[in-house]
Amino acid sequence: MPESAKAVLVVGDQRVELPILVGTHGERAIDISRLRELSGLVTYDPSLANTAITQSAITYIDGDQGILRYRGIPIEQFTEKPNFIEVAYLLIFGHLPNKTELSQFSEALTENELLHEGLTQQFYHIPLDAPPMAILSAMLSQLACYHQEFLKVEDPESFLAVAARLISKVRTIAAFSYRRSQGLPFIYPDPHLRYCANFLHMMFSLPYKQYIVTPEIEDALNLVFILHADHEQNCSTMTVRTVGSAKANLFASCAAGVSALWGPLHGGANVEVIQMLERIYQGGMSAEECIAAAKDKSNPFRLYGFGHRIYKNYDPRAKILKQACERVFANLQHKDPLLDIARKLEELALADPYFIERKLYPNVDFYSGILLRAMGIPTNMFTVCFAIGRLPGWIAQWKEQHDNPESRIIRPRQLYIGLVEEKYVPLAERQTSQRIF
Ligand code: CMC
Repeated sequence: MPESAKAVLVVGDQRVELPILVGTHGERAIDISRLRELSGLVTYDPSLANTAITQSAITYIDGDQGILRYRGIPIEQFTEKPNFIEVAYLLIFGHLPNKTELSQFSEALTENELLHEGLTQQFYHIPLDAPPMAILSAMLSQLACYHQEFLKVEDPESFLAVAARLISKVRTIAAFSYRRSQGLPFIYPDPHLRYCANFLHMMFSLPYKQYIVTPEIEDALNLVFILHADHEQNCSTMTVRTVGSAKANLFASCAAGVSALWGPLHGGANVEVIQMLERIYQGGMSAEECIAAAKDKSNPFRLYGFGHRIYKNYDPRAKILKQACERVFANLQHKDPLLDIARKLEELALADPYFIERKLYPNVDFYSGILLRAMGIPTNMFTVCFAIGRLPGWIAQWKEQHDNPESRIIRPRQLYIGLVEEKYVPLAERQTSQRIF
């Protein structure tokens, strides 16, 4: 990473020189890693909104211009013939696979698509109404019990083997959690089907009737997974990196990523969006009331699927997903009234000074749920689909960190604002209630 001129920090009569690092596109970052050592000072950046926590060569985002690239390739270029497995390989291994590499990787996925029967049995002990994200996180974590040979991965072959296991099994776990919630028998993966078709087969086939996926739906699911595949240092990826920085294994790190993704401000927003659109459809509120509620600071409600920490422009993923919705519904016999409501909400928001001033645009979650609904995926599986898509990104980020000899455990500092020093009071002597923080 090239270094340009130094930044000079002056605090009283102290003068500290700090290197400035320059990224591929000329973006500059003041390297404060030695600041405390040089000056006794730390930096304060709640929510890390202004902190680059790593150098990374995986994904590039220009949030002002609405640009997203995987390993330098604009995501728009993956939309023509979407192939999620190719993109997963690209993210993890840094280059597009050649024919041999792609077929080897695909074979590894096929060979690892089954779950250990011990793990499969565990689905029977989970309540029928359990949230699928809780199941996914628990089951990914439990893969560590059945594949202990991968608790440490020191060579490229083992890494490929563990990555293939995770990417393949996550889809089986996801489908089984849905089958269980419906009280339906598990449908085992079919080695003749491609990744997305196989997922839909495990979700929707019946013992007496094979689910046949159309090319449009298979492409649409590939597209959804690709558009979610990585997004640099977002909340769940940062979680995966944090857990991985302690040298925790890939299963545990990804399971933690699933938990972070579950939150409604992150991947869980795709569920909130559909619930919001359904509420409008059912007459619970109008689109105008929805916008008003989102602007009302005394109301915790937000316009889900809008706004982003990095994008201050239209999220390029939302643009592609909106077009995909239109394409898919043009081929389907039915329409989804939620698509019209979403379009109307978007129009109202984009014309409203509140959203204009704050540069709030549709994000990836605004249209993804409508597309997933078109495939018959139930709402409570939306965030699970986000997780299936994001898994290659988590694996790639974990690997990049793991392979970097300069990586250290992630351990930020704090600015302590609590009591100075207090005396311990034995229980029997405590008269008044103690302050609780
Ligand atoms: N509806 C209403 N107001 C909003 C929204 C929204 N969706 N998003 C941001 N704002 C307001 C926010 O209240 C603040 O206003 P003010 O300046 O008056 O205090 C301003 O815009 C800046 O927002 P912020 O909360 O400081 O932004 P952030 O970077 O901390 O949060 C966000 C980003 C995505 C959490 C937020 O925009 C949000 O809550 N959006 C809705 C949830 C959502 O769609 N999440 C999915 C994100 S994309 C997929 C993913 O990566 O997970």
